Parts: sequence; structure tokens; C-alpha cells
Amino acid sequence: MRMVDLIEKKRDGHELTQEEITFIIDGYVKDDIPDYQMSAFSMAVFFRGMTDEESAFLTDAIVHSGETIDLSAIDGIKVDKHSTGGVGDTTTLVLAPLVASVGVPVAKMSGRGLGHTGGTIDKLEAIPGFSVEITNDTFIDLVNRNKVAVIGQTADLTPADKKLYSLRDVTATVNSIPLIASSIMSKKLASGADAIVLDVKTGSGAFMKKLDDAKELARTMVKIGNDLGRSTSAVISDMSQPLGQAIGNALEVKEAILTLKGEGPKDLTDLCLALGSHMVVLAGKAKDDEEAKEMLKGAIKDGSALEHFKLFAKSQHGDPEVIADPDKLPKANFIFDVKAKADGIVSAITADKIGTAAMILGAGRATKTSEIDLAVGLVLNKKIGDHVTKGESLVTIHSNQENVDDCMNRIYESYTISTDEVSAPPLIYDVIK
Ligand code: URA
Ligand code: CA
Repeated sequence: MRMVDLIEKKRDGHELTQEEITFIIDGYVKDDIPDYQMSAFSMAVFFRGMTDEESAFLTDAIVHSGETIDLSAIDGIKVDKHSTGGVGDTTTLVLAPLVASVGVPVAKMSGRGLGHTGGTIDKLEAIPGFSVEITNDTFIDLVNRNKVAVIGQTADLTPADKKLYSLRDVTATVNSIPLIASSIMSKKLASGADAIVLDVKTGSGAFMKKLDDAKELARTMVKIGNDLGRSTSAVISDMSQPLGQAIGNALEVKEAILTLKGEGPKDLTDLCLALGSHMVVLAGKAKDDEEAKEMLKGAIKDGSALEHFKLFAKSQHGDPEVIADPDKLPKANFIFDVKAKADGIVSAITADKIGTAAMILGAGRATKTSEIDLAVGLVLNKKIGDHVTKGESLVTIHSNQENVDDCMNRIYESYTISTDEVSAPPLIYDVIK
């Protein structure tokens, strides 16, 4: 087989076989296929797309380019959740203890990564003592005993994705649905879950700005998962504004604690119940979404969800007292309010701009080597559809710097206050199974 012939075949709109796709991925990882040919191929895929079968073959080839995790020593159906990313997305912190409290095993391998706030691991480390540096055996033992554990990623998963993603980044080929879908799904499949629930975000703060694109990405990923033997479903949710109120590591831990107590923001709570109920159903613990949702609401109401968070934290050396009293979380030295300059109704909040405002306080990493300040971040007191009066606080800034002018300007730029009545956007647009 020659790479040039396969580029030509895709360029002309023909369908590639599994053997051909495997040849491309294997050759690329081994450096037999150079970047320039892979660039041309990616561009051909960008314009021609891929069939569902080709997308599944591509995903499978990427999965097998590196190590895969075997979770078979853990009892039950392991369900993983993946979000395509947004601002202030606190769902993982809530969902891990919540679904574990009703018996769904959550074996989470997580990273730190770049972004507006840290990743799940950084957030958990806001709990004093919490450690993800546990051995594989401890990890498996903890999931069997407590139904939940989080471990830092050590294995070399999907090297083909790392190489291909970097190439796509500089060749204007990131935004291709089959390439995004195979990239995301390969990482989920390699990390060993039996079933996967996807939270595909849409709106100004999301990767997929348009609803139709989000739906097509969700449909493609669900098809890939199911074709490769993992039950997969997707929820398409709103990211036209940040989710919940808190954006920042310790602030989001506090928000998760409140949500597990039934006192969290409504949008975050509702999305966690929706995603969580799909997880419970895929794990075979409930017959349908309604039954699953009732189980989860029950666990919040009777306190078992919060107790489970304590157990989870304590088992990984975190101070469980913090969960009983979130005021013991790291705190910023300075608090400022961003006050409304006029009366009106919040009609828009540009999520990515707000995210950047949190990042410049130190809540997230701009580069791999940036240090995160776990205490800092933002709390949104007003969301789309809320009435405000002049002088009322739109956002509270938690900072360790005394000068927050830049941050404050960004927040003003991201809020639009109108005089017309505006209603809150829908939270969930669609569910794809
Ligand atoms: N996230 C990924 O992991 N891969 C993509 O291609 C795009 C977003
Ligand atoms: Ca949040």
C-alpha cells in the first residue's frame, strides 16, 4: 500500500477500508508516513468527511496505537462521562460521588490540562491532602470498595491522537467532525470504560458553537462507541453561558458540595441529574431515566451523596472535614464585586471571555508549566434572564492580587444588559442514544 494512493482515494471522495485506515495510523505513529502526507490526508478528510464505518475504524486504529487500560478487575459495568468542554463545568465533581452513591462504579483517570480552570485533578487537590498518586492496585481496590476513585494518568494512551492532534492544530484541520469524534472516543475507549455518557456542549463557550454541529458530533460519537462495543449515549447541553455559578478550583469544589446537598445552582443540578441518570441506566442499575433520576434525587435528599464525597476524599487522603465545612477550603485574600452599571436584564454572558477573566486571576493554566492558584476565581451572581438593578453585584471576584482591573474589564465586556425581557436559554437541547 502507498500513502499517496490513499490520500488520492479520500481526496476523490471514496471510502477507505479498515486495512487502509490501520495502515495510515500505524505508519504515522512509526514515522513511516511523514507529517506532510498526514496533513494532506487530514485536509482530504476535512473536505470529504468519513462514513460512520470509517470513523469507527479510525477510532479503533488510534486506540490500538498505544496502551489500553484493563478495568476488568473492577466489579460491575464501569461508566465514564466525558464533556466536550466549557466554562465552569463542575459536573464531574458532582457526578463521581453522586452516581457512586447509588452503586455505579466510577474509575476515573484524569489529567490536569490547560484551560480556564484546572482539570478535575487540580480541583480535587483543593481538598487539603487529596492525592491522585495512588498505585493501580489501590485504585482498583478503592473502586471495588467505594465505587469511586480518581488516578492521575500515567499510561501512554493513544499516541496517534497526540501526534495527529498537534498536526491538525497547525494545519487548520481540527474542525472536522470525524476527526474530533475519533480523537475523543479513542481516549475514552483506551481508558477502559464499558459504557460512556457524553456531554456535548453547544453555544458561545463551546467547541461546537452551532446546535446542528453539536448534534452531528454527538451522533457520530454515539455511533462509534456502540459500533466498538461500548454502550454510549449523549446529552447536548447549553454552553451559551457558564454552567452553575462558580469558576475556579476551590470555588467549584464548594459548588459541588452544595449541589450534593441539594443546595446547588439549578442548571448544574439539572444537568448532573440528566447525565447521572444516563450513567445509572447504562450501568444497569435502573430500568429507565425516570427511575434513575429518582434514585439520584433520593441520594441527594437523604445525605448519602454527600457522605459518599466524604468517603471518596478520605480514601484518597483528603480532609473530610472540608466537605462538612467548605469554608475550610483555600480562600483568596481579596474579594471584589463587579457591580451593574445600569438597571435591566442580563441578555448574554460570553462564556469564553468570563473563562479568560478567571484564568488571568490564576485559576487556570495558560501554558503547561503555569502554576494554578486553587483559591481564586469567579462567582456569577447573575445569569441570563436575571433582572439587575444598578449597583447590584453581577460577579464576585476572588483574587490574590489587589489589582483586578483587567479581570473586571473582561467581565463587563462579557455581560450584556438589555432593557427587553429575556428568558434563560434551554439547558438540554437533545439526547442521543
Ligand atoms: N478534543 C479532543 O480531544 N480532540 C479533538 O479533536 C477536539 C477536541
Ligand atoms: Ca460551575
